[in-house]
Amino acid sequence: MIWICNVCGYRHEGPEPPESCPLCGVAASEFEPEAGGAEESAEAAAASPVIGAAAPPVEGDRRKAVAALTYGLYVITAHAGADNGQTANTCFQITSEPLRLALGINKKNYTHELITRSGMAGITVLSEDNIELARNFGYSSGRDRDKFAGLSASRSGAGILYPDGALASVETRVLSATDAGTHTLFLCEVTEAWYGGRGEPMTYAWFLTRKRG
Ligand SMILES: Cc1cc2nc3c(=O)[nH]c(=O)nc-3n(C[C@H](O)[C@H](O)[C@H](O)COP(=O)(O)O)c2cc1C
Repeated sequence: MIWICNVCGYRHEGPEPPESCPLCGVAASEFEPEAGGAEESAEAAAASPVIGAAAPPVEGDRRKAVAALTYGLYVITAHAGADNGQTANTCFQITSEPLRLALGINKKNYTHELITRSGMAGITVLSEDNIELARNFGYSSGRDRDKFAGLSASRSGAGILYPDGALASVETRVLSATDAGTHTLFLCEVTEAWYGGRGEPMTYAWFLTRKRG
């Protein structure tokens, strides 16, 4: 049986889901069985003669198809009395004029709490040299440890802390928060941005192949 992590897409094989996700750290309750067994796949293939005819064997597996979407990797930081940040791949540009982005943040995360309280979020664009930052901010909660401890970081005029040495930093103000179930979709307007220009942008797929170091 294959179990899929709802938060980061990690696949686990076994009779039960893992106690916690080894990739993003969420609990077993965030895992769902992979959609579509052999029977369902055969039915789906028969029912979709046009796409299914010459296509590779996606066979109605919605999760596999969605996992083929591509992403970058970011540290999302916020400040509201305290500082915190988390790794996220769900960050993407929506419009260029005005410059707006969307963020998908799990409601249970400490970063979610700080973004909601402050109405602001900072985005650190990671390069392939920043794998330790992705690990540091991705596998534990700022409720349990200070993720900035021992890190070199810079604070913006608006008070948000950004880890140093990344490709770019983008500061945003939250325009709206849409309930997306486990996550909130924050629509954000860019208020400031700094480009360091160091290294190649890290993609989510690149990180997944190297996450264990
Ligand atoms: C590669 C990777 C991608 C992740 N993407 C997201 C994401 O897009 N949204 C999200 O809410 N959590 C994502 N996470 C999980 C959070 O980083 C993780 O739950 C973090 O511990 C939350 O920290 P916090 O409680 O200090 O905010 C991702 C984790 C990893 C390792």
